Amino acid sequence: MAEKKFNRYTITAALPYANGPVHIGHLAGVYLPADIYVRYLRAMGKDVAFIGGSDEHGVAITLKAKKEGKTPQQIVDHYHELIKKSFISFGISFDIYSRTSSLKHHETASEYFHELHKKGVFEEIESQQFYDEKADQFLADRYIKGTCPTCSYVEAYGDQCEYCGSTLSPSELINPKSMLSGDVPIMKATKHWYFPLNKYENFLREYILRDHKEWKSNVSGQCKSWLDGGLRARPMTRDLNWGIKVPIKGAMGKVLYVWFDAPIGYISATQEWATEKGKNWEDYWKKDDTKLVHFIGKDNIVFHCIIFPSILKAEGSYILPDNVPANEFLNLEGNKISTSRNWAVWLHQYLTDFPDKQDVLRYVLTANAPETKDNDFTWKDFQTRNNSELVAIYGNFVNRAVVLTHKFFEGKVPEQQELQKVDEDALRALSFFPDRISDALEGFKFREALNHLIDLARLGNKYLAETQPWKLIKTDSERVATILNISLQMATSLGLLSKPFLPNTYKKLSKIFKFEEMNWRDAGCSDNLKKGVLLGPAVLLFEKIEDNVIEAQIKKLMDTKEENVAPAVKIIPVKKEINYDDFMKMDLRVGEILTAESVPKSNKLLKFIVDTGLDRRTIVSGVAKHFSPQEMVGKKVTVLLNLASRKIMGITSEGMILFAENEDGSLKFVAPDATAINGAEIS
Ligand code: MF3
Ligand code: ZN
Repeated sequence: MAEKKFNRYTITAALPYANGPVHIGHLAGVYLPADIYVRYLRAMGKDVAFIGGSDEHGVAITLKAKKEGKTPQQIVDHYHELIKKSFISFGISFDIYSRTSSLKHHETASEYFHELHKKGVFEEIESQQFYDEKADQFLADRYIKGTCPTCSYVEAYGDQCEYCGSTLSPSELINPKSMLSGDVPIMKATKHWYFPLNKYENFLREYILRDHKEWKSNVSGQCKSWLDGGLRARPMTRDLNWGIKVPIKGAMGKVLYVWFDAPIGYISATQEWATEKGKNWEDYWKKDDTKLVHFIGKDNIVFHCIIFPSILKAEGSYILPDNVPANEFLNLEGNKISTSRNWAVWLHQYLTDFPDKQDVLRYVLTANAPETKDNDFTWKDFQTRNNSELVAIYGNFVNRAVVLTHKFFEGKVPEQQELQKVDEDALRALSFFPDRISDALEGFKFREALNHLIDLARLGNKYLAETQPWKLIKTDSERVATILNISLQMATSLGLLSKPFLPNTYKKLSKIFKFEEMNWRDAGCSDNLKKGVLLGPAVLLFEKIEDNVIEAQIKKLMDTKEENVAPAVKIIPVKKEINYDDFMKMDLRVGEILTAESVPKSNKLLKFIVDTGLDRRTIVSGVAKHFSPQEMVGKKVTVLLNLASRKIMGITSEGMILFAENEDGSLKFVAPDATAINGAEIS
């Protein structure tokens, strides 16, 4: 397909739920790539609306309110402000950061629903739902608790067990109870308005699989599997008392489904912004020459690629998303980021611990963005990238070029004289950078774009190392003038091209190189910075981060983790029946503990080397509170050999040693007879 020419850009970033602060995973997955893209478009002089806001409806918010004894409104007011502040501090340059509890949004979403209703789009369907008679209320899945059929955890939610992670439906729970009254819920009929997604399959296949072959493969892959799995009508209303009232007769006590109203939040926020700025919002949502792009995380793909486009199509006058460059997830030190277990680096906390180091986190998270697969953030990598890339490559190059100019030419840009081959090569190499970075950004390859940027700083360092101007100043000051002029051209370009990625660094560099008037395309030129311009003083761009600072962060994380391990399971009902084959899948063997040692920075874990008869392997167990390493050595144990290996605090654990847990929580060995030999099969 021929490249389409766009005259306007509507760029959205997923509206975060206002029921908790935002963490590095949010930034890396959604807000940073969106911001980099938008800053790039602005640098290219494009007309952009960058839309964001808080998602303030839905069950997650009512539950949080209930837990904290507050109203949902109090919860969203608090977190909306906190989230907004975090985004501002990290330079996420929204044109508007709105919220879905606003009057404007309620009106817009309500009208939209009404419009579709008038067109006869919805199907009204009655179904049986869980209902709490005492509370006189229908129960969302999250409002039902019971015993998990998979792991027997007694506090599993109706939609998911937080202990073992299985996805559930409330009818699968053993002993389901309403979280409102504690009673056993009954089933009761209720009517809802369904969007017939099944009727949009052909449209979606053409839209996604035929017209947008350029979408990222993780996105189109997920879409295809949804399409192939068959689409069903989905209810767009809920029995809940927090949200946007369903604007039609016979819908008392019902609100719009949060995933119906939230994406319309992009539209209402655009309307609010346009009114403030004296623009026409419809240009940004209804004109063919507008490019609509949604930045989201992978858990939002079905909503943005399948459901929302169908809802837009059903209305008929809107453009469709041109791209949805969804990212995968960012893990933290080898584990899934989890709000409920406090396993996260919260943005507001980072700012307290690393004030003025926003660009460092922007850099590290972009360099490590989970663009095509899940990725891991580690504090060690954060330190390494800061010290050996930002300080040693980027900062070092700029600093040398500026300091030498101050030293040898009183801070005035010296004149280029006759060029040698090394100069011509450097300038030619420089000329390719703006396009190279543009191409990567336009293809949503942010890691690659950032790599090119740091390569430019590398080029600068290499040029200085080859030409060594500091050695020539006594003998050939003309040559030094040329070398420094070229170095300064490169440093200026580096500054200009840093604009989307490192906005604070860009600002510092603009004070040195006075480049307000220059633009992106100028960045490849060999005479950007004019002779005679007086440079600003050299400033510290990045500073080394010491080991103790990183160790403190790791310790903080581990401490919170140990406070937040999953709750103990006390009364354990018999687990669901399994068959012989299920049992035989486990490879249980006799083993012997050869060595045992504690794991640094953890008061729960011990690391063992176990002789399994077949091999010697490392197994990590959370038993440090029960046994000393010394008493473990030499013990015969029962080992599960074929458990998938896991990384625990950086150590790969291959298998599991079995223990019995008494009711008081103490652990006992499940020890084979001393005459059983290592490697003997247990069955
Ligand atoms: N609140 C949702 C989440 O955090 C995202 C909503 S995006 C929107 O997963 F499009 F619906 F607004
Ligand atoms: Zn479970």
